[in-house]
Amino acid sequence: MSFQPPKGTDDITAPQSQAWRDTLSLWEDWSARFGYPLVSTPIFEATDLFERGIGQVTEVVTKQMYTFLDQGDRSVTLRPEGTAGVVRAYLDSGHQGPWKGAYSGPFFRYERPQAGRRRQFWQVGVEYLGTSSPLADVEVIELGHRFIRAAGLGEVDLLVNSIGDRTCRPGYVETLRRFLDQKRDVLSDESAALIDRNPLRVLDSKEDRAELADAPRMLDHLCDECAEHHKKVEAGLDSLGITYHEDPNLVRGLDYYTRTAFEYVATGLDAAQNAVGGGGRYDDLAEALGGDRAPGVGFALGIDRIILALGTPERRHLDAYLVSETGPDDGLRVASRLRAEGLRVDVDVDGKPVKAQFRAARRLGAPVVLVWKGDGHLIDVQTEGERAELPLDEVTRWFGRS
Ligand code: HAM
Repeated sequence: MSFQPPKGTDDITAPQSQAWRDTLSLWEDWSARFGYPLVSTPIFEATDLFERGIGQVTEVVTKQMYTFLDQGDRSVTLRPEGTAGVVRAYLDSGHQGPWKGAYSGPFFRYERPQAGRRRQFWQVGVEYLGTSSPLADVEVIELGHRFIRAAGLGEVDLLVNSIGDRTCRPGYVETLRRFLDQKRDVLSDESAALIDRNPLRVLDSKEDRAELADAPRMLDHLCDECAEHHKKVEAGLDSLGITYHEDPNLVRGLDYYTRTAFEYVATGLDAAQNAVGGGGRYDDLAEALGGDRAPGVGFALGIDRIILALGTPERRHLDAYLVSETGPDDGLRVASRLRAEGLRVDVDVDGKPVKAQFRAARRLGAPVVLVWKGDGHLIDVQTEGERAELPLDEVTRWFGRS
């Protein structure tokens, strides 16, 4: 009998896993630089949390949730996204005022799998709660922007929009609905079906782009407060030198957003999975979950998509493989010393012949082979192009690490 990973899930192994490790460790670094401590919430939550948080008419809630009854007959759901859980944790903590959290972990959506669209996928993200300042939006957007660049993704477009709030959006949605109703016959079936249920989502349709070119724009219907907020967000991005495009059709797939909505789009990737991340402001979400009002803003980035865009990593998981000519006990002892000095070293523990140890070094992609000959404290350093004999206590310096 043999098993495969469930449809839409992946085993992540070397050499690709090195890109994961590097990218996730870069995320720890960048989220810490912006002052976001780690927040970790359960991978499953009460189903109701997502239904109330994400919105009953969204695709995520109606079609994509992994929901089941646990042994105690409670309906629970594997988290399809992180914001609802983090806001619940914030409300449960009883904290008042500004609060930040960064997360990183697996999420689950029952999607039709393809490259970059998985049923289990990895997101990193932040939530900044307890402030309605437009500068919080700017800070959050900047963090995503800087991290994506630091990760090595070249061509990434930042799209920004405002989708208003509960003061101005209902009137706009009605105007939009009337416009769409007149176009019902020429729109795709998928869009026509959304007109009554969720007209904003029609704007997202790629198929009907031409028909929607003259659709009314939320940006022209913002109330004064939302317009002012939007202006300040854009001015803040300008002042940090962050390039963006205003996209009046950007609406996002989750219903909790108010005012700012944004997406990072990798222009080098296929259209189907080129949104490497997105987020926005969600000032009404805490109340929708039964808590006090707590405005917030955040984003999540899809690590599977970022890794896909990066391609196969050049960096290997090892700095060196240690070949021991005097047996595995010596090998492990010397490796232990180099590891303590910070080198990433692997070594044979089975007492394999020297030739087999060299083969292992090649198979693991080690860029350097260190050969321990047992004569005093000297070690042979071999790379493709050079060979040198060094005292053991100079090896780490040779790698340029200390
Ligand atoms: P989202 O746009 O649904 O937003 O997901 C964010 C990112 O996660 C997407 O841009 C994409 O890169 C990745 N992603 C989503 N679904 C999949 C999938 N099936 N396979 C691979 N990658 C996927 C959110 O989840 C919001 N919680 C973001 C947010 C945080 N808004 C405010 N705070």
